[in-house]
Amino acid sequence: MKNIYKNSLQNLNKAKKILNKNDIIAVPTETVYGLAGNAYSNVSIKKIYKLKKRPKKNPLIIHYHNLNNLKNDACFNKEFLKLYKRLSPGPITYILKKKKQSKISPLATGNLKTIAVRFPNNNIIKKLLKNLNYPLSIPSANISTNVSPVKAEDVKDEFGKKIKFILDGGRSKIGLESTVINLFGKLKILRPGAISSNEISKILKKRISLAKKFKKINSPGLMKKHYSPGIPIKLNCKVPERNAAFIVFGKSYKKGKDIFNLSKNGNLNEAAKNLYKTLRNIKNLKYKKINIIKIPNYGLGVAINDRIKKASN
Ligand code: TXA
Ligand code: MG
Repeated sequence: MKNIYKNSLQNLNKAKKILNKNDIIAVPTETVYGLAGNAYSNVSIKKIYKLKKRPKKNPLIIHYHNLNNLKNDACFNKEFLKLYKRLSPGPITYILKKKKQSKISPLATGNLKTIAVRFPNNNIIKKLLKNLNYPLSIPSANISTNVSPVKAEDVKDEFGKKIKFILDGGRSKIGLESTVINLFGKLKILRPGAISSNEISKILKKRISLAKKFKKINSPGLMKKHYSPGIPIKLNCKVPERNAAFIVFGKSYKKGKDIFNLSKNGNLNEAAKNLYKTLRNIKNLKYKKINIIKIPNYGLGVAINDRIKKASN
């Protein structure tokens, strides 16, 4: 069955038609691929949760084209406007207070008082959002707890025929999900991503910490098992065990049958981009276990370590 569609005006129009009927499609973003549905429609949101087998308590990120579209749904504050100006569109999600008159489906926000919002920076999804008169709920396009998809074929790998329309945007530029920052109440990073806490601190001129535990909200990014290829993962390995796929980083590792180098040049951005692709590849090669060397914990290394730690649970 053909379900992967190229970026063209005709296909964007098709996508719009499907979304208008409250059906679900898969879309590219600069971080990872997502499942998109009309955020104002309970019908659409129910379909997303069902497809992903996602716990209903886990709220979705609402994606907008610009601030104008958001003003009826969320309360703005100073921090948000400062960050928005510098970082959006881009790989950052803001948790804001939801407005009472908001038309966002309460199912999408897990009945919380808050709403997660993001302005994605990818031409295809930007064009699509611009042409719709509602925002889109877009969780990553994987079954709950699995590895996120970073190309159109990965979405097919996850859902088979269940997703009839996948917009093809090539490989995701970043390869890891957006940074999630709480801006309502305590300033905190709930999920590390391509935008580092350092960068945010500089813009806000405030120290900002990474949430260890965010008690009230059941964030899947904070759920114990997540981003998992479904086989055991061991971290901080110096030498590999027998028959394990060995994930390494940097130029001191030679090519070898079971060796998967995230970045020969030791570049953490490249490593982030290759992480999910590598995990999916190893799983499809039918390895029974994965060993990973210690990954430096700065820049995008913080987000990589967050994901592999959860994947190893
Ligand atoms: O990069 C991304 O953010 C991707 C692309 C497709 O945009 N989307 C994504 O969505 O990663 P998802 O559903 O896989 O992850 C959403 C994260 C979860 O950790 C969820 O708990 C958190 O955002 N979240 C959503 N609403 C929240 C809220 N009101 N308060 C706290 N966390 C929230
Ligand atoms: Mg996800």
